[in-house]
Amino acid sequence: MYQVHLDISKSYDIYIGSGLIEKAGAFLSGIFPRCRIAVITDSNVYPLYAQKLGKSLTESGYEYDTFVFPAGEQSKNLSTLSDILEFMADHQLTRSDFVIALGGGVTGDMAGFAAAVYARGIPFVQIPTTLLAAVDSSVGGKTAVDLKAGKNLAGAFHQPSLVLTDTDVIADLPAHLLSEGAAEVIKYGVLEDTELFDWMCSETWKEKLSEIILRSVKIKQKFVSEDEFDTGVRKLLNLGHTFGHAIEKCADFSLSHGFGVAIGMAIAAGAAGKKDVCAKIIQANTACHLPFSCDFSPAELAHAALTDKKRSGDYVDLVMPHKIGHCVLEKTPVEYLSSLFEKGLAAIKELT
Ligand SMILES: NC(=O)c1ccc[n+]([C@@H]2O[C@H](COP(=O)([O-])OP(=O)(O)OC[C@H]3O[C@@H](n4cnc5c(N)ncnc54)[C@H](O)[C@@H]3O)[C@@H](O)[C@H]2O)c1
Ligand SMILES: [Zn+2]
Repeated sequence: MYQVHLDISKSYDIYIGSGLIEKAGAFLSGIFPRCRIAVITDSNVYPLYAQKLGKSLTESGYEYDTFVFPAGEQSKNLSTLSDILEFMADHQLTRSDFVIALGGGVTGDMAGFAAAVYARGIPFVQIPTTLLAAVDSSVGGKTAVDLKAGKNLAGAFHQPSLVLTDTDVIADLPAHLLSEGAAEVIKYGVLEDTELFDWMCSETWKEKLSEIILRSVKIKQKFVSEDEFDTGVRKLLNLGHTFGHAIEKCADFSLSHGFGVAIGMAIAAGAAGKKDVCAKIIQANTACHLPFSCDFSPAELAHAALTDKKRSGDYVDLVMPHKIGHCVLEKTPVEYLSSLFEKGLAAIKELT
């Protein structure tokens, strides 16, 4: 089992290991006295892991109630948030109780936000069940729901008290969910870790899941520790996201987030004029069964990117890969976006 410690506005541990859902009650009893728990999970994860978690909680003397919402990003909204808050109130949770998010990033973001605002803030624990949630959303305390105007527009910074990543759960994920998470792992490699990146360039990466999660979480820990509230270096974690988000939008969100980020990273490298880096990203994407290009026009993509929340005024903060293991944040005038998409897509075309 691996342990990573975060020491920011709140200090907490992230444990990564086999069988951690069965041991959840024991881990929790080291932090929380016997109290009530609201377990928040979705309709896919509930039948898979809720019973196992519940048994562990009961054995450790906790009382819990479970709220299940329909799986998918379309549930990550104010209406479900409101239902979760009412559920917590109906079950008389107090500030000495806590919330467990059992699921992927949607569950973690929404349960975390509910915990952030219920009774002006109660503790919560992340038990991520997707690779994306394990390496990204469960760490760092960003919580949110979507508004009609865009994703994650209402939210709060609220750090969990504990993160338990059960690697048996991640190893059992369907292939497409592993690929989705792999895009974020490739991102960490491009940002900071050439060895991690090299692992992702071979189909054998799935044999190293625990190490991959550990290396990714350590990189996220480093950025979050330096910039908890996302005003500086943490923005580097958006590598591939501005370009990728534009693609997701053009595809009317029929393309998943990880797939958008995968293409976005290849575009970013091409747009930075780094064809060697672009070629390597294409290689990693291919090994992880991720796409590396799209058919939308640079004008369409630039238009979609202009409504990105990361835009401040007439500039966007773009993360440009200069080499594997080193990226640079560049404040870019928005009128350059279309030509950057063009340059990036042209580089990909030339290489493939
Ligand atoms: N807070 C952050 O820092 C942060 C960072 C990145 C992404 N996010 C958010 O995370 C969300 C995406 O995360 P996600 O991809 O985990 O989404 P998700 O929670 O919707 O999970 C994806 C799908 O996998 C299913 N699933 C989850 N665990 C499973 C398992 N073990 N076996 C089988 N199916 C399982 C879910 O039911 C869902 O259908 C987005 O809403 C995004 O905005 C947040
Ligand atoms: Zn992402």
